[in-house]
Amino acid sequence: MRSKIQELKKMFDRQLQEAKDSPALEQMRVEFLGKKGNITGLMKELGKVPNEQKKEYGQMINSFKQQLTDQLEVARKELQKQEELMAVNSAEAYDESMPTDHPVGSYHPITLVQRELEEIFKSMGFDVEDYNEIVDDFHCFEALNIPKFHPARDMQDTYYLDTPNQLLKSHTSAAQNAIMIKYGKALKEEGRPIKAVFPGRCFRNEAIDACHENTFFQMEGIMIDKDISISNLIYFMKTMLSEVFERDVTVRLRPGFFPFVEPGFELDIQCLICGGEGCPSCKNSGWLELCPCGMIHPNVLRYGGINTEEEPYKYTGFAFGLGLTRLAMMKYGVKDIRVFNEYDLNALSQFISK
Ligand code: DAH
Repeated sequence: MRSKIQELKKMFDRQLQEAKDSPALEQMRVEFLGKKGNITGLMKELGKVPNEQKKEYGQMINSFKQQLTDQLEVARKELQKQEELMAVNSAEAYDESMPTDHPVGSYHPITLVQRELEEIFKSMGFDVEDYNEIVDDFHCFEALNIPKFHPARDMQDTYYLDTPNQLLKSHTSAAQNAIMIKYGKALKEEGRPIKAVFPGRCFRNEAIDACHENTFFQMEGIMIDKDISISNLIYFMKTMLSEVFERDVTVRLRPGFFPFVEPGFELDIQCLICGGEGCPSCKNSGWLELCPCGMIHPNVLRYGGINTEEEPYKYTGFAFGLGLTRLAMMKYGVKDIRVFNEYDLNALSQFISK
């Protein structure tokens, strides 16, 4: 009887060590302490031992039973603590906003193009700036050398808010003045050139079709320092476009009119599909119009607090306004601009892998 108890104790201890959860403990309770369990078995054997030994063995079995009960109880409490802790941890990992029955989402094609450009410009030492969507007349037009009633305003009819003098910006150029003011001090005092790009959503009162939207994205850039010339402009544009299209691109400048640059240009790239021979994508011209740009008009620099006279220093700069939406259409081969604002997930996610 004694050796039987010792054997059972060894078995019990081994199983207890391996028991990893409450069901395993419960199974042990049944096996050792249950109605048909090992302790009951020992009790039955007690009937067979001689009378004078019954008391001693009876006590032995009882204290063995108590020992197992206590050990199981300690193990149960320990496991319960662990299980509660695990429940708390997994509750923290649970994210209520995660869709359950949808495929994993993807970035909007315009976001992808925007981020790619931001990285390219950052690597060339440009700061990336954010700017308001609601602006005033001064920033959107007057600070850009577009006085009230100037015919150039007709091209940029936008949405006016009920609040006086507040409108939705019609181009990212609306941030130029604020950026010149923000970085002007470091230019004058520390000689740090102003180099910034500022992507943003723009709005225009447009009739919508496959090529026109009332809401679209641009990325503006300016660089201002002593002796900035058209060569600098061409260098940065060519480098940026070669990165975006992952090949060496050929660019050309044509004269273009924008009141805030003088001279102003339209920058074209040689068609990447036909290599300049002429094809339907470039309307047989061999060139694609991509990015208006130019040398910042002295009036615009002056509005931004930047000196344009020889004394103490004469500053010059270039600016460009890249159509992000347009670039995304070219890069991903999107033929209809409306796709971008319809927010049809199936339509938008398909461009990503291209
Ligand atoms: N803001 C102009 C537009 O949306 C584009 C533009 C043209 C921006 C010339 C520039 C520039 O910075 O130099 O039509």
